[in-house]
Amino acid sequence: MSATEENSATEKDSATENSSADEQDLGPEGMTRRQLLRHTAWFGSAVVLTVVGGEVISHVATPDAVAVPPEDPNALRFAQISDSHLGFKGAANTAVEDSFAAAIRQINALPQRPDFVVHTGDLTHLSTPAQFDQVKQMMGELRTGKVLTVPGEHDSVDDTGQKYRQAFGAGSRGDGWYSFDLRGVHFIALVNTLSLEKLGHLGADQIEFVRTDVAGLSSDTPIVVFSHIPLFAMYPAWGWGTDDAAAVLNLLRRFASVTCLNGHVHQLFTKTEGNVTFHSATTTAYPLPPPGQGTAPAPVTLPAGKLKDALGIREVTYRKGSGLLAVKDVRLA
Ligand SMILES: [Fe+2]
Ligand SMILES: [Fe+2]
Repeated sequence: MSATEENSATEKDSATENSSADEQDLGPEGMTRRQLLRHTAWFGSAVVLTVVGGEVISHVATPDAVAVPPEDPNALRFAQISDSHLGFKGAANTAVEDSFAAAIRQINALPQRPDFVVHTGDLTHLSTPAQFDQVKQMMGELRTGKVLTVPGEHDSVDDTGQKYRQAFGAGSRGDGWYSFDLRGVHFIALVNTLSLEKLGHLGADQIEFVRTDVAGLSSDTPIVVFSHIPLFAMYPAWGWGTDDAAAVLNLLRRFASVTCLNGHVHQLFTKTEGNVTFHSATTTAYPLPPPGQGTAPAPVTLPAGKLKDALGIREVTYRKGSGLLAVKDVRLA
């Protein structure tokens, strides 16, 4: 282990700091010390960020959130990937399909096959039929029981998600939302990206869906929610929030453990509010700036050789009765 950082700060005070030269001087772990400290500050007191053997690993450091031993056959295991942006052309990543393929290989190399893999949106960059075909074909190579998705705003740029639903909407309801149960956990997949006019919005129909969906569940059922845009106000000025998320979160208040996993922001970020823990995932394509750093969330071109440090996959495990899920973020190998 090369470094362990803990920080009890809970303020987002450093989130809007100006960039400086040391921000560009990435260390062997791909993050400057300041970034590490900022990362842990954002994560708050309940979370430890650990850098192990060059991999960035974060996990919720509560006694309940125990990583499941590899030999446990009853554990829930799934992987999250996000924001592959197939079709993106730019200096920030000149071969997004190669880094997405690397993420798929990394999941396929996990010691235990995940029950499913979820892609939390921006599968494509411009919603073209060719991009949907390519992402579907590539995800068909995942060694897993099931591939799940939620749409990002890049997957519905011109048709409010019709091509997305043709490719990935089987079994979903409404505009593409759905729920299911697996190994004692209840999963809800939400759509908050439907059109550029409704970015970061769930709508009354979807909120009603959640209301009836959870009505019969006992309060000790762990809940996991997938969405593309965060359900917490990460940085609303950049569209990094969901304006009516509180209506859904209120319906989930009575549950002991609620875990919300999102993409869209292209960087790790975790926060806990009461019974709910939010985990923003990183991307397989290109980084975006920290919230408020710069004038817009435009792709960041890293120094040569540093891109993979900002990309990654997420492994999630859960053992029945253990309370919280264990979330582990691993950078792209
Ligand atoms: Fe994205
Ligand atoms: Fe997005």
